[in-house]
Amino acid sequence: MLCVTVFCVLSLIWGGSWCEDLRFPPGFQFGAATSAYQVEGAWNASDKGRNVWDIMLHNTPSVTADGQSGDIACDSYHQWRMDIHMAKTLGLHFYRFSIAWSRILPTGFSNKISKDGVGYYNKLIDGLLRSGVEPVVTLYHYDLPQNIQSLGGWANPLIVDWFADYAGIVFSHYADRVKTWITINEPLILCDHMYNVGDIVPMVKEDLLGPYVCNKNVLLAHAKAWRIYNDTYKPHYHGKVSIANNPIWLEPLSEEDEELTELAREFGTGRYSDPIYTEQGGWPPAVEEIMAEYSKKQGFPYSRLPSFTEEEKKLIQGTYDFFSLNQYTSRLVRAAHEDETPGTWFSFGSKELNVVLETDPKWAFSDLKMIAVTPSGMRRQINWIKERYNNVSILITENGFATRDPGLYDTQRIHFIREYLREVLLAIKEDGANVIGYTVWSLMDNFEWMFGYTMKFGLYAVDFSHPLRLRTPRASALFYANVIKHHSLDN
Ligand code: NOJ
Repeated sequence: MLCVTVFCVLSLIWGGSWCEDLRFPPGFQFGAATSAYQVEGAWNASDKGRNVWDIMLHNTPSVTADGQSGDIACDSYHQWRMDIHMAKTLGLHFYRFSIAWSRILPTGFSNKISKDGVGYYNKLIDGLLRSGVEPVVTLYHYDLPQNIQSLGGWANPLIVDWFADYAGIVFSHYADRVKTWITINEPLILCDHMYNVGDIVPMVKEDLLGPYVCNKNVLLAHAKAWRIYNDTYKPHYHGKVSIANNPIWLEPLSEEDEELTELAREFGTGRYSDPIYTEQGGWPPAVEEIMAEYSKKQGFPYSRLPSFTEEEKKLIQGTYDFFSLNQYTSRLVRAAHEDETPGTWFSFGSKELNVVLETDPKWAFSDLKMIAVTPSGMRRQINWIKERYNNVSILITENGFATRDPGLYDTQRIHFIREYLREVLLAIKEDGANVIGYTVWSLMDNFEWMFGYTMKFGLYAVDFSHPLRLRTPRASALFYANVIKHHSLDN
């Protein structure tokens, strides 16, 4: 006993973690995630409608790194039994997948519901439940029906009702079995990237109003869907609904940048979360002010950040049952130099805030350069959410690591997951954060959007040249299965 104590004290002095308690709290849940377009394939099965990816990648395949599309992807539309088998083998408590809007509503609108589309997800959900794996379902993960995009997509305010119609129909079919729902995936990527920088499908390059109109519409659409569930389904099925936000954790480059960094956090994260999670609702006031001033400078007679009516504010405020957090990476914040014009948020800056986002030369990167390996950002991000949003319970709905060619011995991925999970544990145990679960992106290699199949995130490798898209567990799958089995990082 004495030896152990001496050993632990020495470990603490040397900054080690040999005696750390690496067990997760009872009830903590582990999962893995995918999304419809990235894994399903079967782009034209039965009466499925066309989504923005189908159209763009058929017309202009060169927009993806390898000229490929999600036409077949992992063929999960046919190979769903394999997916369930993997989830069960890993011992996952839940599997997060998304529903393809255009598979359920072929026109995108509520005039026609596809029997086959509904049937597909029934099989998946029932199969998961039979295997003891909870389905966690995202309603919208970037695959907008083309008909809706042709009408302006997320920039058209009518989308709020079209999305609510779709959500209501999905709830009516599956709410009896699905207890955890995500309305919209990563609105920051959606609005501040797809509708701003415009380098992700649907490639809308419009950095004036696009991102902000989209931002507002996303919040309203989420809120309406949440309220449909809350009023009609929650009383019977007691499930929970949230929206998946994906903050980049921001650190000041130097002490002088501290205030600016907090403002940048409000701009990047608060803009998508404050209206839902704060008691007063609405945009973060400092961001609202800056946007109004900057818009005026640009000659706008109104703010580019559209205002909310009191009614809209109330509609959005409080529409959460937990905070859904996709957390991958961090950046450093500094004020732009005089001779420098910052770009948009996803070219790592903001003209409005006069801010530039940088990386630290000491950081390691995943092959997907966007993801700098910054585990401590996980703990800090969790704490920022905890402080700002009244210790809301947090479900980490994505975290993962990409390599071009990991083979089956993906030790870097193991290291990444382990280090990030350790920070999650610290946030829970040392800081009292209410983190209820963690999700690896991704259950298997899949179609990584503009990178096609060149970036691999999977716990399972997928053979994209095999007609059955065979799946093989990587070392990280065994590692994760052990973490789940022992409910601890100490195994
Ligand atoms: C977030 C997105 O939700 C998912 O679709 C994507 O594949 C991963 N990040 C990795 O980039």
